[in-house]
Amino acid sequence: MIYKKSYAAQLISLNPPAREFAEAFAPSNIALCKYWGKKNLDLNIPATPSLSISLADRGTKVQLSIAPRNSLSINSKNITEESPAFKRTFDFLELFMAKNIKLAVQSENSIPTAAGLASSASFFAALTIAIDKLCNWQASLQTLSCLARLGSGSACRSLHHGFVKWLDYDDPFKSYGIPMNVRWEELRIGLLIFDDKEKSMPSRQAMLHTQNTSPLYQAWCNNSRTDFEVVHAAIKKKNFQTLGETAEYNALSLHAVMLSARPSIIYSQPETLKAISKIHALRQNSILVYFTQDAGPNLKLIFLENDLECILEDFPRMEVINPFSRVDNVES
Ligand code: PMV
Repeated sequence: MIYKKSYAAQLISLNPPAREFAEAFAPSNIALCKYWGKKNLDLNIPATPSLSISLADRGTKVQLSIAPRNSLSINSKNITEESPAFKRTFDFLELFMAKNIKLAVQSENSIPTAAGLASSASFFAALTIAIDKLCNWQASLQTLSCLARLGSGSACRSLHHGFVKWLDYDDPFKSYGIPMNVRWEELRIGLLIFDDKEKSMPSRQAMLHTQNTSPLYQAWCNNSRTDFEVVHAAIKKKNFQTLGETAEYNALSLHAVMLSARPSIIYSQPETLKAISKIHALRQNSILVYFTQDAGPNLKLIFLENDLECILEDFPRMEVINPFSRVDNVES
C-alpha cells in the first residue's frame, strides 16, 4: 500500500518554493458519467470510469503566497483553522511543503462554492497548478492531474478543458484525467441553482457511506461502466440524444443507489423534482433537454444551442455556459 506522501514524492521532487507568489485557474467540471466510490480510499482511485465536461471560464482562481502563517480565504472570506476546508487544504499542501513553509491561500470561485457544483474539483486543480508554479516543478499535466486527485478525486478532470475521461485503472500512476479530442461547439450546460449553501453531506463521506451500506452498490458500478462506454461513444459520434439520455440515467441511478444506502442519502429538494417534471414535459414537446445532478439539489441541464430560447421560457433564471468558449489549455 503506498500512502499519499510517498506517492507524491514518486511523482515530483519536493523542491522548496522557487518564488514568493503564484496564481492559477482551473475550470469546474460536471460529470456526465459519475465517479462514486473508490478502490483505494487514500489515493482516490475510482471504482468506475467517469467522464466530464469542463465549464470553460467558470471555476476557481487560486493565489498562493509565502506568508508568516497558514491562512485560507474563499471568495474574500477568511476560513478559520478549525473548519474542515482549512484542514483539507493544508493537509494537501503538506504533501508537498516542508513544515516550516507557511502559505496564504486565496481562492475565488466563479461558481457557487458548495451544493454539488463541484467547486472542490476546480479548487484542488487550481491549487496544484499554483504549487507547480511556486515550486517550479514544471510537471506534466498527467502528473498534476494525479496530484490534484489526492485533494479531491474529481479534481483530476479539471486539469483540462472540454470532455475529460478518468479511467478506473488500479495503477495509481495511470489514474489521471485524459482530455478527449472532441469539440462540440453547439453543446450548452445550464445551471439551475436552487440552493448554494453547504451540502448536507460532503461527497467524499456520502460516497463511502453508499459504498459501505447500499446492497445495490455493485449493480450501480456495473451499470455505470456500461453508461461510460455509451456516453464516450455518443460524444465521439456527436449523438446528442444518446449522450443526454445516458447522462441523465447515470445521474438518476446514482441518486437511486444513494437512496438505497442505510440511512438513505437524499440530496433532492422539492424544487429539484419540480424542475425534473418540467424537463420531462419539454422532452414530450420534442425539445431535447436532459439533466444531471451531483451531491446536492441543483441540476445541470444539457442541451444544444438551437433549443436555448425554448428552455429559457421555462427556466428564465438558468445560467448558460458554453463549455467550448475557450480554446487554450488550462495551464496557460
Ligand atoms: O471528487 P469528489 O470527492 O468531490 O466527488 C465528486 C462526486 C460527484 O460530483 C457527485 C461526481 C463526479 O464524478 O464529479
